Amino acid sequence: MIPSDFYRGRRLRSSLTMREMVRENTVTANDLIMPYFVVETDDDSFKKEISSMPGQYQLSLKQLKKQVGDAVDNGLRACILFGIPAEKDELGSGAYDDKGIVQKAIRLLKDSFPDLMVIADTCLCEYTSHGHCGMVKNEYVQNDPTLNLLAKAAVAQAKAGADMVAPSDMMDGRVAAIRAALDDAGFTNTPIMSYAIKYASAFYGPFREAAESAPQFGDRKTYQMDPPNSREGLREAAADFEEGADILMVKPGLPYLDLVRQVRDAFDTPVATYQVSGEYSMIKAAAQNGWIDEMGVVMESLVAFKRAGADLILTYFTEDVLKALK
Ligand code: PBG
Repeated sequence: MIPSDFYRGRRLRSSLTMREMVRENTVTANDLIMPYFVVETDDDSFKKEISSMPGQYQLSLKQLKKQVGDAVDNGLRACILFGIPAEKDELGSGAYDDKGIVQKAIRLLKDSFPDLMVIADTCLCEYTSHGHCGMVKNEYVQNDPTLNLLAKAAVAQAKAGADMVAPSDMMDGRVAAIRAALDDAGFTNTPIMSYAIKYASAFYGPFREAAESAPQFGDRKTYQMDPPNSREGLREAAADFEEGADILMVKPGLPYLDLVRQVRDAFDTPVATYQVSGEYSMIKAAAQNGWIDEMGVVMESLVAFKRAGADLILTYFTEDVLKALK
């Protein structure tokens, strides 16, 4: 005799309509933030594929405008910009120069696409000759002297028209320093999306090719978080929340879904997560080998972020997903 009192979960999976009606999480264009790499160059036609990130490019200003224009036509709501300056120096001055490449890109995009949310990644590593995210002395990244430079960068970005700034350097106190500087300069309405919980991750490898920002000595382990730790992540999130972060980010994404869930449960701010370059490259590589169904894996990974409690997802797959959602 088969008992009849067991749970029949399959009833709610019997048709596509039924499944869609009971679906708990969905990914929409409003959730997605596309990263772009913009290069300071006189060559307007510059568009160079990043070899470790097939389908992603370093772009001149002109090519950026074209690329973003197409994405906006497909429903893009938000992007985050990384700049690659022509010259780097010890203090990363391109990051806070009003004529720096990201400041130019922000102006261009806001002029061309006023409704697009343009977010600026606030960090020094793409602009420093040593590739570290702060000022270096005796081969050690100096915390407090870096805060001023980051604050100057955020103000330069806001002045250029950035809708939001996103500090990714992992210096202590930078959210407070940036908030104070923004307020002082009259940008009380510019939100801060803090890379609050950012791990020293091997998954950033391809990004460092894309942004030409690999550290020239040592690594980032004295400022980015140690991957085995989760309680420490909540301390980082609490610090940034108290310093005035409007949105808290967890980075990388899939390997740190536990942190996304914990931050979601512990704070009432929106939570963002960054599906980083290495996550992108792994999916791309497997797909190019015919080993996985690319869009299937992409959509499953993105909805996993939503299920874990993320409101916003930074992903290099944004443009592809927008096309798929259309
Ligand atoms: C800059 C920064 C990095 C990423 C975003 N902002 C690299 C790093 O910290 O080395 C990584 C993004 C990615 O891997 O896609 N500090």
